[in-house]
Amino acid sequence: MNFDAVIIGAGAAGLFCAGIAGQRGLKVLVIDHSGKVAEKIRISGGGRANFTNRDLDVRAPHKHFLGANPNFCRSALSRYTPQDFLSLMQRHGVPFHEKHKGQMFCDRSAGDLIDLLLAECAAGGVEHWQPCAVNAVRTGSGSRYEIDTDRGTVQAHSVVVATGGLSIPKIGATDFGHRLAKQFGLRMVETRPALVPLTFDGAAWAPYAGLAGLALPVRIETGAKKERMAFDEDLLFTHRGLSGPGVLQISSYWRPGTPLRIDLAPGQDVAARLGDAKANSRKRIANELANLLPSRLAEAWVSRDEALQRPVNEASDKALTQLAGQVSRWEITPSGTEGYAKAEVTAGGVDTRDLSSQTLESTVPGLFFIGEVVDVTGWLGGYNFQWAWSSAHACAQALPRRAALAA
Ligand code: FDA
Repeated sequence: MNFDAVIIGAGAAGLFCAGIAGQRGLKVLVIDHSGKVAEKIRISGGGRANFTNRDLDVRAPHKHFLGANPNFCRSALSRYTPQDFLSLMQRHGVPFHEKHKGQMFCDRSAGDLIDLLLAECAAGGVEHWQPCAVNAVRTGSGSRYEIDTDRGTVQAHSVVVATGGLSIPKIGATDFGHRLAKQFGLRMVETRPALVPLTFDGAAWAPYAGLAGLALPVRIETGAKKERMAFDEDLLFTHRGLSGPGVLQISSYWRPGTPLRIDLAPGQDVAARLGDAKANSRKRIANELANLLPSRLAEAWVSRDEALQRPVNEASDKALTQLAGQVSRWEITPSGTEGYAKAEVTAGGVDTRDLSSQTLESTVPGLFFIGEVVDVTGWLGGYNFQWAWSSAHACAQALPRRAALAA
């Protein structure tokens, strides 16, 4: 019951860390309370796991990562890069492909990735207890930790917390890692759901509720001046609000009470097109707008305003200019998000000021935090898994062996 390292959480970061540390010769135990192994990986990327992103710029991580200190992740990312993980996939013979914007997916299923992680653990002789609850972690005698589990109390020189974020509680997400950080006096950055659909209140959303299922490419932005953030991605209407890649991306930057600005016809001069139509067409405004937008959206948009229910040549210049402005700069304020039940990740977490960017060890010696439990949040597109791999790798390289501890 004595280990060099006990890793709590057998998800992406925990399993990867366990395998590398085991292969370095450490005696490693990985524990997870869930009955299913790495369920979040299994459901990720629509079942094919978008496991990294080739566009990641390891010298400028702030381009694709959020957090109180977005550059915190530079050290780990630059020492274990997307290319390193792609090479590992190749060594295991796991087929993969690029979708778009550098996003790398498994060809067959995310199960291949889980098998890879378990094979790495087996190669390192890692002991794996699952399901097994962890009931308490405390400092024991000497430089050891004592960990109370359902299978008894174990001792370890190092404890690695890899329990992930709060997203999707029904498949095992808990705040265990956050509570443990607080128990040991570490600071926390307030958590919030990220990469999450946005909701609107009933009355404001009524005109658009019938559009559920409709998707279109948009430019979507939030924030002002230095805080301004924009994405060119697809938007999806849902029964309660907006989703799709563009909305998930912007949700990580959106702050409650602030508006979103959406260009529904990016790259199009809507005012000029409607002006031309007025001069040359007698069709309904909705039909003309349908040359620029999906027709269901054009109909819903025009149906909100009596003055627009007419042939385009009968509309006033002012009404068409106003319409063009609304389409190119639709300003709406979400009432909230779909919460952790639907969020892909959790923003916030263990404060990076209390962690080493080189090793992920906290200011409490021997206590490490890796993966999503840390205040590092990636964009949609494989960035969160890459953080799991890179932080796990940095930690696994730093975990001390018994010989080093005895010396
Ligand atoms: P992860 O959540 O993988 O693992 C944490 C583990 O800790 C779990 O196994 C859990 O059971 C365990 N645990 C929790 N509490 C515990 C306790 N008290 N005791 C013991 N064990 C405990 N990212 C990406 O890059 N590409 C993608 O395609 C997707 N797709 C995606 C889809 C969906 C639906 C979701 C919800 C998320 C994604 N993500 C993603 C995000 C990605 O899954 C996530 O960032 C990583 O899995 C984080 O890895 P971790 O190892 O930190 O946590």
